[in-house]
Amino acid sequence: MTKRILSGMQPTNNLHLGNYLGALKNWVALQEQDFEAFYMVADLHAITAPYDETKLAQASREVAAAYIAAGVDINKSCVFVQSAVRLHSDLNWLFSSIAQLGKLDRMTQFKEKSGKNSERAPLGLYAYPVLMAADIMLYHATHVPVGDDQRQHLELTRDIASSFNHKYKTEFFPVPEAVIVGAATRVMSLRDGTKKMSKSEESDNSRINMTDDADTIASKIKKAKTDPEPLPDTAEALKARPEADNLVNIYAALSEETKAAVLARFAGKQFSAFKPALADLTIAKLAPINTRYRELLNDTAELDNILRKGAEKARAVGVPILEKTYDIMGFWRGARGG
Ligand code: TRP
Repeated sequence: MTKRILSGMQPTNNLHLGNYLGALKNWVALQEQDFEAFYMVADLHAITAPYDETKLAQASREVAAAYIAAGVDINKSCVFVQSAVRLHSDLNWLFSSIAQLGKLDRMTQFKEKSGKNSERAPLGLYAYPVLMAADIMLYHATHVPVGDDQRQHLELTRDIASSFNHKYKTEFFPVPEAVIVGAATRVMSLRDGTKKMSKSEESDNSRINMTDDADTIASKIKKAKTDPEPLPDTAEALKARPEADNLVNIYAALSEETKAAVLARFAGKQFSAFKPALADLTIAKLAPINTRYRELLNDTAELDNILRKGAEKARAVGVPILEKTYDIMGFWRGARGG
């Protein structure tokens, strides 16, 4: 069977270095392997949280542009916007008859996101992982690169796939495997080495955005929190120093070396020496991505064309799978295609 990947990110705010090193860089690496990849912009998921409808479409373009700028090759992989392929919503409904409430009740992300006010949380936030299952299974994806925070949702997808197969006595849906990416490259906040770098943290100095220019990157790294000690000579010794560990980790991820190799060069040096080297490296790696990102966004018509083609490609794979699902479930088939 074809090895197929599906993954996505939500079009909320700007992507940052954590998204790049923790996810996108891996997506690019995976497309070079023996996979057919589908990378979507998860806009249907984004509407489950408060959002600005005047900015949603552009945010989707921005995230798609970031995928491509980071190296996702539109000739190899399918890049598209989820809402442009209505089949996702359709399969979501079919799967909502499979997904069990008891299992949805256990989803920690819903609990975190709905908080104390879960009575007022929208149904969509609760049903979110069912839509994820539909995203994945619409393409018979076999591998799903996700961050640790989505692991539980992936488990539910696997559960829905096997429950469907069992209920309808079929092997139609492959049970997809999570490819946990970015575990080694969890990028932490520049202000607090124990917190993940995040688009929702208030201080912009806590993160490096994929759109930051060279001066901004240099200034943010200069201001990054550190401790007064020089860099140690073993990765082990970084464990008790989260901020130092984070900066060395970022350096290692960008230069594609181990932390030990980085420390071999910088052991005994002060941050006043390490930070400029890290800034130079970050700027060198992000600059071409930045340039390509801006080019893509400067030509909206062309970008929209790319995304239209992506949606067509996705539909061509998804339609027969959705149609077959209706068959298996025993629907009246007198008017195929809806
Ligand atoms: N929920 C994912 C996130 O916020 C995005 C997403 C939506 C996704 N559908 C998916 C990821 C399907 C993997 C597979 O990160």
